[in-house]
Amino acid sequence: MRIVVSVKDMQRRAQAWKREGRRIALVPTMGYLHRGHMSLALRARRRVGRDGMVVLSIYVNPTQFAPTEDLAKYPRDLERDCKLCREAGVDVVFAPTNPEMYPSGAARDYSTYVVEEQLSQSMEGASRPTHFRGVTTVVAKLFNLVLPNLAVFGSKDFQQAAVVKRMCADLNFPVEIVVSPTVRETDGMAMSSRNKFLSPEERNQATVLWRAIELARQLVRDTPSPIPAGRLVQRLQALIESEPAARLDYVAFFDPNTLEPLKRVGPGGHLALAVYIGRTRLIDNGGLADAPG
Ligand code: PAJ
Repeated sequence: MRIVVSVKDMQRRAQAWKREGRRIALVPTMGYLHRGHMSLALRARRRVGRDGMVVLSIYVNPTQFAPTEDLAKYPRDLERDCKLCREAGVDVVFAPTNPEMYPSGAARDYSTYVVEEQLSQSMEGASRPTHFRGVTTVVAKLFNLVLPNLAVFGSKDFQQAAVVKRMCADLNFPVEIVVSPTVRETDGMAMSSRNKFLSPEERNQATVLWRAIELARQLVRDTPSPIPAGRLVQRLQALIESEPAARLDYVAFFDPNTLEPLKRVGPGGHLALAVYIGRTRLIDNGGLADAPG
């Protein structure tokens, strides 16, 4: 396995693989890898086969963090990440530095961004207004550097996957977006690099995101006609705020294809939520007719 840090080096390698006719899969991450990330790498390998190349990028992308957010303290451990990637059969870890990705200085300030204007407005976009501009910009840059045939994203970040799909369609990127299921701990908690910030007591309370998804599923299952979204929001809010460390940012019920909000919610709907547990902001989502996942 190689560790590549230069954008030029990455692009040259990708161009050489293309000339050799190899398929390339990209798994974009911000590192501090866990089993959720590794499931994406395994999915990538299955898709491109032994002769294909799997690139996992590790880059804590500053443009998707607002000044008030946790960029500086976002967890990092490149050495451990590389070990996990080696074990998972990743071919290249692409870990560029900030000056490589966003050159600055009088002669070369960075000034070009990719903006999706529709699916990125609600939920995470409403709560974090500059977030998706940073995500689409860095993902577009990664696509130009790694030249992947396919890129694997997690449904843990459901809206992000939808926004990236739309960007690819609108800008004609020849990249298939593969979306892979959320990997959870045995108590239902979605794996996330940010779980590291939780104290043991907060970690217990944080299962309330999963319990809220299960409650919504149960209410939809037990009610023969679609339920007014406002009523579901109230029920979930009461559950979440029964945990002393929890503060609801948003809970949204929407159509999983269009991300349009639902007035009434039935089994075809989807739910996403963001909750502060102490100072840590966590997100999760799920389909309302789903088996656990
Ligand atoms: P990051 O939060 O590191 O996540 C990288 C990828 O792993 C995303 O596609 C995310 O949905 C997926 N992922 C995270 N937790 C998961 C879990 N428990 N199960 C399955 N997949 C999971 O998302 C980002 O980084 C960034 O926004 C990025 C796309 C890399 C752009 O900077």
